Amino acid sequence: MIPGPSEPEPEVLAELSLPILPHYGDKWMAVYQDTTAMAQKVFRTKNEVIILPTPGHLAVEMAVENLVDKGQDVFVCVNGFFSETIVGMANAVGAHPVIISSGLGTGPTLEQVKSAVEARGDPAGKSIFLVQNETSTGAATDPADIFRYAKSKGMLTALDSISAIGAMDVRVDDWKVDYAIGYSSKALGGVFGAQPIAIGEEAWRSAKGKEGKIGSTFLDLNAWREAIDVDSSWGHPHPTSMPTSVVVALRKALSMAIGEGLENRYRRHADAAKELREGLAALGLELFTDSHFYSNAVTVAKLEGKLNAEFRARLVKDYDIMIAGGLGELKGKIIRVGTMGSSARHEKVMTALTSFGAVLKQLRA
Ligand SMILES: Cc1ncc(COP(=O)(O)O)c(C=O)c1O
Repeated sequence: MIPGPSEPEPEVLAELSLPILPHYGDKWMAVYQDTTAMAQKVFRTKNEVIILPTPGHLAVEMAVENLVDKGQDVFVCVNGFFSETIVGMANAVGAHPVIISSGLGTGPTLEQVKSAVEARGDPAGKSIFLVQNETSTGAATDPADIFRYAKSKGMLTALDSISAIGAMDVRVDDWKVDYAIGYSSKALGGVFGAQPIAIGEEAWRSAKGKEGKIGSTFLDLNAWREAIDVDSSWGHPHPTSMPTSVVVALRKALSMAIGEGLENRYRRHADAAKELREGLAALGLELFTDSHFYSNAVTVAKLEGKLNAEFRARLVKDYDIMIAGGLGELKGKIIRVGTMGSSARHEKVMTALTSFGAVLKQLRA
């Protein structure tokens, strides 16, 4: 019950036992295209999707490399550990991060974004980064108004949907997201190592304008463009090798999500998270996250001091259930529980809550 990686469904795991495909050729091309087409459905976009064989961190860094210029303002909505890392990435490319800070457990508002953007002069061509579901605090933000506003000002929009995708709606076209980052091994229920990224026309154009100036060859979207345009002819639409089995597993996970029905899947996650929140409150734990920002995928409760580590350790030892602790300044202060993919189910939540109750009883005795 950690907030990623999640336990893949047996059908997804079974794909890993199939013979390993080479990462080029007609057979592979069909698998790759099938996977990106299904990812487009989940992202609700017509934008091109690439599969990036990296951790999520590098997928976010790719956005920074291609959307942000040295010396340029970049607006970063910061509300926790993962959004904070984007500030470091912006500094690493010599940009000027403008932090739009909302408290831990909440998310950015349109008013906060407007006032930060308007204070810095003409925003056209500048980027804004937002984490849809801040995994470190369980705060889910609706990016719709913020991104529509940003686009109306000629800005570029980048969305980290790493812990949202598969658990809640990601509407790339509707929200006008230029660069959207998905993830295999959280709520989508795939296996770590191949992340679907939806890239719009303006993001491709931004990369083109920076050709020769991007400080990484692997993260340079122009290399990916060239591979798609030139090397697709021999079934190699990416500039490096690929973890093909991981992509085959992702294809299965995506087809299962689509087969379940995206709305049904999001409702299942919402129901599981609600049940978990209610159960934690009934056990006397105070929820950390502001109720306006509750997430379908990550539930966070306060648990301070020695009790924190002890609680998590006993859950593993006595019940074989793993949950996560806090990150950064929330270390030792909170617990984080994932409802992602296979764990977003009544049975799983009830088993977890029963175990939580038993351990808390022992610890409080
Ligand atoms: C919202 C968010 N962004 C970025 C990351 C970084 O992903 P990775 O650990 O694969 O680099 C994570 C990881 O949990 C995350 O939850």
